[in-house]
Amino acid sequence: MAKILVESTPDLSKARDRRMTFAYNYDEIVIPQSVLEYAKGRTYFIHTSGCQANYVDEENMSGMLEKAGLTKASEIEKADVIILNTCAVRENAEQKVFGQIGNLKAIKQADKTKLIAVCGCMVQQKHIIDFVLDKYKHVDLIFGTHNIQELPQMMAEVIEKNVRLVNVKSSSEEIKENLPNKRLSSYKAFVNIAYGCDKFCTYCIVPYTRGKERSRKMEDILKECLDLKNKGYKEITLLGQNVNSYGKDFKDGTTFAKLLGKVAELGIPRVRFLTSHPWDFSIELIDTIAKYDNICKYIHLPVQSGSTEVLKLMNRKYTAETYKELVDTIRKRIPGVALSTDIIVGFPNETYEQFLETVEMVKYVKYESAFTFIYSPRKGTPAAAIEDNVTPKEKSKRFQELVKELEKVIKPSSDAMIGKTYDVLVDGPSEKNPEFLSGYTEKNKLVHFKGDISLVGEIVKVKINESHLYSLIGELVNE
Ligand code: SAH
Ligand code: SF4
Ligand code: F3S
Repeated sequence: MAKILVESTPDLSKARDRRMTFAYNYDEIVIPQSVLEYAKGRTYFIHTSGCQANYVDEENMSGMLEKAGLTKASEIEKADVIILNTCAVRENAEQKVFGQIGNLKAIKQADKTKLIAVCGCMVQQKHIIDFVLDKYKHVDLIFGTHNIQELPQMMAEVIEKNVRLVNVKSSSEEIKENLPNKRLSSYKAFVNIAYGCDKFCTYCIVPYTRGKERSRKMEDILKECLDLKNKGYKEITLLGQNVNSYGKDFKDGTTFAKLLGKVAELGIPRVRFLTSHPWDFSIELIDTIAKYDNICKYIHLPVQSGSTEVLKLMNRKYTAETYKELVDTIRKRIPGVALSTDIIVGFPNETYEQFLETVEMVKYVKYESAFTFIYSPRKGTPAAAIEDNVTPKEKSKRFQELVKELEKVIKPSSDAMIGKTYDVLVDGPSEKNPEFLSGYTEKNKLVHFKGDISLVGEIVKVKINESHLYSLIGELVNE
């Protein structure tokens, strides 16, 4: 059995600390000789769960692995280097990962030269690392969200020293630029603008797993976006756990609105952004979205709860009233804007009356789509320490009730699209019926229609004929 070499493990109190500084690093990635040798004729597979931040990490890891000479395997079972890139936001996400790690045991036993790694937000938690080391002895490498740029060096250590390596840091010392990048799509891209989160919503693990808020330099972001535009990309989504905070750390008047305007001016057909916190959504930002035709008139505005009391316990820093005022201002200044949201049901001790305030919020805002979650206690977060008097059964009941109310507001917004024609960015064959192509409208509605596969990556006109709850059926319109 290989020895365990622990280089660093994360510590919750250090992860909570916001005093550390960081530097920008533009150095080229160097691939050690032992990894170049190992990679010859070998393949890799990365399985990613969680949010877009993790998918960008996957693209960078793929970039580094391909630079080393590995090629992508068609299936996880066939790959020599297998990486599980994990999410810690809710317990059910973690349970799935444990199942996946378990499934890899037989694969490693059949070929001991394979390298199995677990990374991402889940292993930013010390108790998870201990559990994986103990229970899943076929895992060779555990690394965190703050040092994916060290992947080639960490692989070299595992290969050369024949150890099980753990290297998970509590915080980031740098923003790494110039990482090799193998993008998952050739026509739509996610571009990080900031890392980390300083909001500390009481239920959320992200500020601990992703660390302090750090903005990339505007010139680096614009360079990446221009490169994407020159490569023919049709859609860019600017990413941050809270994009509204972008540039505040520069203390020189930089705002997200200014960055967004500059990205729009590059002339990419569609510009999106994720996620905005309702608390610091500025008028400057609203007016920037309104001003540029290529900024999608679609805003994801997570409300979490419609109860001011619950919002206070969540540390969301807005009230139901100020959220509604923001929605009113957005709707007034951006006519026809579509709004979507995230909602948590069953925060500790949520009363039925407080839950009904969330239902009332749904009726007020009339979201075009929504992600709904049952509250999941995350070890180390303030909310997890609260004794909860709401039963899981009651939470499920409220969840079902909320979904029904959401359906009532979502369906009419889809029905209203029937007979009209929309621009759709084509993604590929529909998952359910390969005879159809699928894509999204500017306002993020999923549309299926018949068309030639050569249209993938193009923006086409589709007339809507039928509306279902979560998708629409249409036909191509030739101009
Ligand atoms: N930074 C983004 C997304 C964070 S995670 C934002 O603030 O909107 C995505 C969503 O997961 C959150 O909006 C929240 O609705 C949900 N979530 C986060 N922690 C959760 C928890 N402990 N239990 C249930 N849902 C949670
Ligand atoms: Fe989590 Fe809140 Fe930060 Fe979003 S803003 S990542 S919900 S702490
Ligand atoms: Fe999950 Fe980490 Fe994203 S916890 S939601 S993958 S930031």
